[in-house]
This record gives sequence, structure tokens and C-alpha cells, in this order.
Amino acid sequence: MSIISFWSPEHGRGNTSNSAAVGAMIGLDYDIRTLIARTQFGDSSLEGAFLKSKELQLRNFAASTASGMDALERLFKTKRLEAASISNHTLSLEPGRLDLLTGTSKSYESAYEGIEHVIAAIFEEAKRYYQAIILDIEGGSTNAVSNQLLKSSDLVVVNLSQDIMSLERYISKEQWPSGLQETNRMILLGQYDPHSKYNMTNIRRKFGIKDPVFALPYCSEYRDAFNDRDVLGWFRRSRNAGRRHGSYPFFQEVRKTAKEILAQIGVNTEIKHIERGVS
Ligand SMILES: Nc1ncnc2c1ncn2[C@@H]1O[C@H](COP(=O)(O)OP(=O)(O)O)[C@@H](O)[C@H]1O
Ligand SMILES: [Mg+2]
Repeated sequence: MSIISFWSPEHGRGNTSNSAAVGAMIGLDYDIRTLIARTQFGDSSLEGAFLKSKELQLRNFAASTASGMDALERLFKTKRLEAASISNHTLSLEPGRLDLLTGTSKSYESAYEGIEHVIAAIFEEAKRYYQAIILDIEGGSTNAVSNQLLKSSDLVVVNLSQDIMSLERYISKEQWPSGLQETNRMILLGQYDPHSKYNMTNIRRKFGIKDPVFALPYCSEYRDAFNDRDVLGWFRRSRNAGRRHGSYPFFQEVRKTAKEILAQIGVNTEIKHIERGVS
């Protein structure tokens, strides 16, 4: 149904961590078909975040050419790509609800002219099967694949920080890829510090931001889960912990962000939400 791209003007702003967190929450808490994928060349940190629960399968996936983005690309080129069979080439993280598409094993140098249209067409096809496709795309303003995907996205989550210089650069729009201009956007501040003078309210006011602004607070346990490659396991264990749990504020904000994203793409979050304890 919809493509949600996570994009950032710079590296290291939590593009991958934020997309992994939102993807895990949607996959666990909502009864919709969700796909998470990255389109970077030579950066498998998104798969890495989920490695622990699926270590063996992911290794096999990486070694085989019959799965992941490269396999879909081959199918597309030979006109054999079908929406319903895309999930056969993904790793199921949560049966029927959350699939992970492993990214290309190719280097950027091996990309060919027009690859951006092939990749965009693959996700267009995937939209016929998945209700939400969450993409961790290469940041910056120069990548043709990202630019094409920004154009095809139903929603772009722009990952920023509380660093005023980089916010000023973003707001000036000087380095915006063309694909970002006309899309539906929301801003997500990563590793958020609510005690900073530059909190969400002040940032919004100072820069006159019209797009919705959300924030995921800095969370030590999330950092550890990401480093331990166990994002999904940690979400499974801890996401419903009570108010006194140290990671409660993080989960609250991931939940809010996930809900807003789904609402923006037209998912009825009341109906599709899975009651606690049912799943
Ligand atoms: N909310 C958070 N709390 C704690 N650590 C975070 C948070 N968001 C990101 N990080 C850490 O910041 C680092 C960089 O994030 P990453 O998602 O890899 O950035 P990007 O994809 O934008 O380059 C990662 O090591 C990650 O663990
Ligand atoms: Mg990244």
C-alpha cells in the first residue's frame, strides 16, 4: 500500500536505528503486512540490527543469491517479479506481519545506469502485497536511488538531530534532493534530549517548521540492543514494561511515531492494533 522512506541529510543521525525501531514496533503491535529493507550499497547495519534472532538464516541469506534485493532485481529484469512471491525472498521476523528484505551485496561501483528505476519499480510492485514498506535509504543529496525513492514515497521520515548547525542547513533547503520537495514529510529527531534548550517545541518555533515533528529519546538499552544485534528480541521482551522501566519513554515515543506514520498512510490504527497479550 505505502512506501515510508527514512532519509537523513547526514550520516550518524539514527536513520537506521530509527527505522529499525519503528519497523519492530509496527511489526509487533499491528496486524498489517510490513516489509523493512535498506537500499544502501555496502551498509548492512539494518539487517545487523535483527541478526541475533535469525542469525543462521541471515548467514544463509547473505551467502545465497536466491534471496534478498539482488534476487528481486533478477526476477524483475526477467519479468518474473510478482507481488505475492516477493515475501518468499525475504526473512520472516514475525510471521505474516514483519518481513526483512536483505539488501544488495553489490558495491556502489557496480551499480548501472538506471538502477534507480529498477529499484523503485520493485518496491512499487511490493506495495501490492505489503501495507507498509519501511525503507532505510542512503542519506545526503547525491544518491540517485534515494532520490528516486523519495519521489515514490508516500511519506518521508526525515531524521535529524538537535544540532542547530545541521538543522539550519536542512531548513535552508539548499541541499535538498529534488525528490524531497513535493513529498509528504515528517521530522524525527534521534537520540533526543528533552532537557536541552533546543527541545521539540523550541526547534519547531525557532525554525517555523510546518511538518510534524517527533522524537525518539536517547536510550542506553536501545543502544545496547542495536549493538548486540537484538533489536527485535529486546522489543519483544521490554516494549510493554511499565512506567518505571528506564526505557519506558523510548518505547512511548516509538509507539507514538509508529502510530502517526500509520495514520498518515491511511491505516486504521484502532482496528489494526493488536491487543496486549493476544499476540
Ligand atoms: N535513540 C537512541 N538511543 C541510543 N543510541 C542511539 C539512538 N539512536 C541511534 N543510536 C546509536 O547511534 C548510532 C548511529 O546510529 P545509526 O542509526 O547507525 O545512524 P545512521 O544510520 O543515520 O548513520 C548507532 O550506534 C546507534 O546505536
Ligand atoms: Mg545507517
